[in-house]
Amino acid sequence: MAIDVILGLQWGDEGKGKIVDYLAPSYDVVARFQGGPNAGHTLKFDGKKFVLHTVPSGIFRPGLINLVGNGVVIDPITLAAEIRELEKAGVDYKKRLLLARKAHLILPTHRYLDAASESAKGKAKIGSTLKGIGPTYMDKTGRNGLRVGDISRGNFKERYQALKEKHLSLLEIYPPTSFALEEEEQKWMESLEVLRQLQQVDGEYYINHALRESKRILAEGAQGSMLDIDYGTYPFVTSSNTITAGVCIGLGVSPGKIGEVIGISKAYCTRVGSGPFPTEQDNAVGERLRTEGGEFGATTGRPRRCGWLDLPQLQYTIMLNGVTQLAITKVDVLNAFEQIEVATAYRIDGQTTQELPYDICDQLIAPAYEAHPGWQQSLDGVTAYEDLPGAAREYLTAVEKALGVPITMVSTGPERQKLIVKERGAAGA
Ligand code: GDP
Ligand code: IMO
Ligand code: MG
Repeated sequence: MAIDVILGLQWGDEGKGKIVDYLAPSYDVVARFQGGPNAGHTLKFDGKKFVLHTVPSGIFRPGLINLVGNGVVIDPITLAAEIRELEKAGVDYKKRLLLARKAHLILPTHRYLDAASESAKGKAKIGSTLKGIGPTYMDKTGRNGLRVGDISRGNFKERYQALKEKHLSLLEIYPPTSFALEEEEQKWMESLEVLRQLQQVDGEYYINHALRESKRILAEGAQGSMLDIDYGTYPFVTSSNTITAGVCIGLGVSPGKIGEVIGISKAYCTRVGSGPFPTEQDNAVGERLRTEGGEFGATTGRPRRCGWLDLPQLQYTIMLNGVTQLAITKVDVLNAFEQIEVATAYRIDGQTTQELPYDICDQLIAPAYEAHPGWQQSLDGVTAYEDLPGAAREYLTAVEKALGVPITMVSTGPERQKLIVKERGAAGA
């Protein structure tokens, strides 16, 4: 068996949670492989709404195992809060939520370092979610981090104290800020108890044994490919590898084990936080997309920057990820638009190109747009691709042709059932 992958092709918030939740019944295991509580994955079903930050989006599907993999960074406080929400909703998670022992822990002081580093950057700030992601991955690569498996070791308290002290001395290089460390620390220690109740596994053995037993596995990406630490719009990125290669690192599987790669893109484009965004519409069009699409961050509530679909950007992330299927979400957000634009190329220094330049942050990119007529009608009740309005099909076909990858899913609303599956969406779906 192979591992299928679902990930975002833009700057995050493409609707990964919704698609994973929809497809989950076709799988035995859903596994997060990178990122942490900077993610906010929204699920809507039976009139309820949940936003997951660390827990994989298969948790609401009975019987399914949900693994928080090695590559994820875990804040015990956030995870404990999410678990309380699951308990309130009556979700039987205890035997189904597994933590990889090698996943790193976010300490309260990692969050303080994140905030201090951001505020010191002033106007050049990344627009981080301030969840401590960057400092935690820095400690991981700096070989200082604490991992889930360390919680039950005898020297855990001393190691925690040593790392905390190191962080406090690092904080001294920044202007002084006030933080309630004692209070946060107590909450953190209490939350570790919640983690102790969960099953810990050696994630790499768990996944490889599951593959050998022909279990169907779905890897759930967080963030988006343009936020990848290596290939995104550096330095305005997150601190993990968000692309397909990150699945191998984050779960401990070999590249040959990757199966279908389902890339998700909105029918337009958004970004939250700072950094380049070639097709951004910082005008009435962007405002309209934000209003129609409810484009406010699921984790921080910040307004998302909005713009048109960017084909060179998608061609780039399809290349990086080896995408085999496309899911286009939020198509309904464009219902009222008279005209829909799509960037088909970039003009840079008088040259036309379809490739992203090295210095995307400083280069002046003028996208060349192609206009498509809107359909100006509701998509409610449309359950088959052929029943979409002609203009919507024309738009999707143009996108599919330019990208060279089949669109297999079209999402027409936030609710679970508002999904048109054009062909088989995943192995066994
Ligand atoms: P994720 O981080 O990729 O899981 O996406 P988010 O949950 O951060 O943001 C996606 C937002 O769009 C959420 O509010 C979803 O409920 C919503 N959403 C997902 N798919 C659709 C869709 O097809 N149409 C509309 N209107 N909203 C959608
Ligand atoms: P999901 O999984 C959208 C952005 C932040 C910031 C940059 C770095 O819900 O799609 P970080 O907290 O990682 O230091 O922030 O990355 N960012 C996201 N944007 N969706 C996300 O996750 C994001 N996670 C981080 O806004 O610009
Ligand atoms: Mg999100």
